[in-house]
Amino acid sequence: MKNKVTVVGAGNVGATVAQRIAEKELADVVVIDIVDGLPQGKALDLTEAAPVEKHDARIIGTNRYEDSAGSDIVIITAGIPRKPGMSRDDLISTNAGIMKNVTEQVAKQSPDAILIIVSNPLDAMCHVAYDTSGFSKTKVVGMAGVLDSARFRAFIAMELNVSVENTHAFVLGGHGDTMVPLPRYSTVAGIPITELLTRDRIDALIERTAKGGAEIVSLLKTGSAYYAPSAAAVEMAEAILKDKKKILPCAAYLEGEYGFNDLFIGVPVKLGTNGVEEIIEINLTDDEKAALQKSATAVQELKDKIRELGA
Ligand code: NAI
Ligand code: 2OP
Repeated sequence: MKNKVTVVGAGNVGATVAQRIAEKELADVVVIDIVDGLPQGKALDLTEAAPVEKHDARIIGTNRYEDSAGSDIVIITAGIPRKPGMSRDDLISTNAGIMKNVTEQVAKQSPDAILIIVSNPLDAMCHVAYDTSGFSKTKVVGMAGVLDSARFRAFIAMELNVSVENTHAFVLGGHGDTMVPLPRYSTVAGIPITELLTRDRIDALIERTAKGGAEIVSLLKTGSAYYAPSAAAVEMAEAILKDKKKILPCAAYLEGEYGFNDLFIGVPVKLGTNGVEEIIEINLTDDEKAALQKSATAVQELKDKIRELGA
């Protein structure tokens, strides 16, 4: 393949990301994990599926960052997931240390790569990757909004008994309880859901979306979601690799946009070869602005905690 994507973390999200990238023939894939044998085993298993799945992507599993050299994109999923009763924010000290260590090595081997951050707490982890890598703000982007919007879309489609393909949704803000689903910008075949559903039903779907990650954790009991998260991360990688200029809600570094400074938070961005090529500023009502401000305050608190931890 022409492109090379490294996935750090060969766990549930990382391995599924590798599988989706290979099966879509988007790139050759290098899977890295700290556990000896885990990335090697998963890469070999995926390689043995290739004749049946009919793709020629090369998949390498390794514990050595040298093998990731020259990657176009590095998707970082390394870290611990939450268990029932934990919030994403409970993961902060462990995952900040892991993110710092991983980013140092990734940046050394692939100085021109675009980093897609997945590990939680997402927006705070983007800060660690951004500070540690020294990469420009266009080359560090976090995955959360695509996942949260996909959940909202799935719930809208279920509610109205329509194809998911007819749905579009925007969920902005931090990837946490304060995320900001925007019904006015969420549509079915172009029709805002505010014209199709009562306020009560919309509120119920918003509530389910905001708690979407916890709903899966409480069912799985031993880990968190990975099919939808991996699909979301791969949609971002595909937009970058194919220079699609696709507008997606992603965690991006803001310098004044939406009134926030020095903060990663979920906003609509244009993704292409150069990473975050544009931050799209949409009009928000006073209530929507207040919700985004509340979410930004929560992210800022986590960012401050990380700086206290010295990560
Ligand atoms: P997992 O436990 O299945 O996999 C994590 C992998 O990271 C493990 O294989 C582990 O060995 C590896 N790892 C740990 N330390 C490492 C290091 N220093 N270097 C390399 N690899 C290391 O967890 P899962 O389900 O894959 O989730 C991964 C992360 O992604 C979690 O923090 C989770 O909360 C987050 N997540 C974020 C989402 C989002 O929307 N941003 C959605 C889903 C998960
Ligand atoms: C989720 O929303 C765990 O952040 C992850 O499923």
